[in-house]
Amino acid sequence: MSKQFAVIGNPIEQSRSPELHHAFAKKMGITIEYHKRLAPLDGFLASMQVFFAEGGVGMNVTVPFKEQAFAACAQLTERAKIAKAVNTLWMQDGVLHGDNTDGQGLVAAIQALNWNLKNSRILILGAGGATRGVIYPLVQAGAQHIVIANRTLARAEQLVADLQHSVPSAQLSAIGLDQLSGEFDLIINATSASLSGDALILPESLQFKAAYEMAYGKASSFLDQAQARGVANTDGFGMLVGQAIEAFYIWHGVRPELKDFL
Ligand code: ATR
Repeated sequence: MSKQFAVIGNPIEQSRSPELHHAFAKKMGITIEYHKRLAPLDGFLASMQVFFAEGGVGMNVTVPFKEQAFAACAQLTERAKIAKAVNTLWMQDGVLHGDNTDGQGLVAAIQALNWNLKNSRILILGAGGATRGVIYPLVQAGAQHIVIANRTLARAEQLVADLQHSVPSAQLSAIGLDQLSGEFDLIINATSASLSGDALILPESLQFKAAYEMAYGKASSFLDQAQARGVANTDGFGMLVGQAIEAFYIWHGVRPELKDFL
């Protein structure tokens, strides 16, 4: 029987992970089986444990279980500890390991676009789990100053206070979403506004050279505004592929090339 992999979430029907991992495996000459696994909202742990007890090798975790996956791991990578969320699980010598490849996926997608991160000034909209997961990898890739703007200012301030000691080489600051202004190399939309179809307003006083929308396959007022200004912009498909490549690398020890799957 070929090695078994899965992505677990609720809902899970929309997941593109099986198709990506099968494409990577084909390209790298590896045989795998990768399935979607729907867990009940109160049944993540049981479903995950059954998967590994039945010989499953690796599992991706998506909404809303990434924090529960983090809590379930006995061994975590540094970036997963900082993210406090896990999207990639594997069993090694009977010990459940967890990593978070979302941030590295974003970095790889940005680098594939040849957008500069070294010494960059980045504005991230949103202060939820999606933002928390990408700060450390962005800093490792060279970001110098990261401003986190959130509708609820206190949440951005809390995130900065929480992360400042983990990323001492970068300057982090928090502002309200109604205080957007200044000049940035890159602006990243990590809010769930596009998922719920809500508009975000980028004022004229806010200048930026590139815009990254973490969501994909959704109408995005954020991307519409970047487009209208003639600024380089993209949705989050590259990040999705990038995080999947990093998970594939953890499980198989070989790294497919991002550009082959965009
Ligand atoms: P995730 O894990 O995807 O980051 P989350 O933790 O629910 O999800 O966070 C969602 C983020 O999107 C938050 O920063 C939220 O702002 P608040 O903290 O003020 O709630 C932001 N968000 C959601 N809908 C938004 C909207 N319509 N306009 C602006 N920000 C929005």
